[in-house]
Amino acid sequence: MWEYTDKVKEHFFNPRNVGEIKDADGVGEVGSLACGDALKLTFKLDEKGRIADAKFKTFGCASAIATSSVLTEIINGMTIDEAARVTNRDIADYLGGLPEQKMHCSVMGREALEAAIDNYRTGGTKKHELEGKVVCTCFGVTENEIERVVRENDLSTVEDVTNYCKAGGGCGGCKDEIEKIIERVQGEKSKAPAVSRPAKHHKLTNIQKIQLVQQTINEQIRPALRADGGNIELIDVEGNKVIVAFRGMCAQCRLTEFTIKEVVEARLREFVSDELYVEEDKDSAAEPHVHRG
Ligand code: FES
Repeated sequence: MWEYTDKVKEHFFNPRNVGEIKDADGVGEVGSLACGDALKLTFKLDEKGRIADAKFKTFGCASAIATSSVLTEIINGMTIDEAARVTNRDIADYLGGLPEQKMHCSVMGREALEAAIDNYRTGGTKKHELEGKVVCTCFGVTENEIERVVRENDLSTVEDVTNYCKAGGGCGGCKDEIEKIIERVQGEKSKAPAVSRPAKHHKLTNIQKIQLVQQTINEQIRPALRADGGNIELIDVEGNKVIVAFRGMCAQCRLTEFTIKEVVEARLREFVSDELYVEEDKDSAAEPHVHRG
């Protein structure tokens, strides 16, 4: 029996946005019934180019249904460029985590989203195309896909790769090749220059904490928000509570709560302290914030 979070169970028993948009702007289909999972994602844009509606049809287990359901929630209100940056890790994190053996469901969600965006941008195929050499013929997984899951999720064993994209989970004939791909990708990563990041301190003075929070916002968070025409300002730090205000596009974004948790809070915990949590100072926001739901 898998250990599922309450959020996975909730989305499995009450999936959101089930169905198919008939005159969709983007359509993405991935997986196959033969492999045990299949997902079709459709979305429609509003006149400002934001995703106004997203629906899914899926065949699969509880986590396939839950990941598809949250994916439609995550991308609702996003621009195409924002949606293109959603990773499988974002989807799994939004659910409070997935059993390792079920991480391939989050990868399937990300692939369906990419296929739908590609369909919108190029008007091309509505099926997820296999790019590159097929390594795992049992599940039709290519070298490019394996490289990507290894790189993005920092995987180090064949078993990890099977959990994330199923490759290696059938006859096992591709395991040697998967091993070589892992070695190559991990080797490339170790040669890449290390990203400078401050070491996490557990005993920071209040002044040090504020300086580190400000530095992390300046270097790690603001550039990502600026790319979408938004900005963020540090308002105050009270103990472990960090109060911020969003500016520009971020102030009007329907996904501010998602941005706070998955971008701002996650980065501050990574670079400053695990104990930090973030709240938005709505009074000082330049524009009214529209809540989801
Ligand atoms: S070829 Fe990959 S498991 Fe069979």
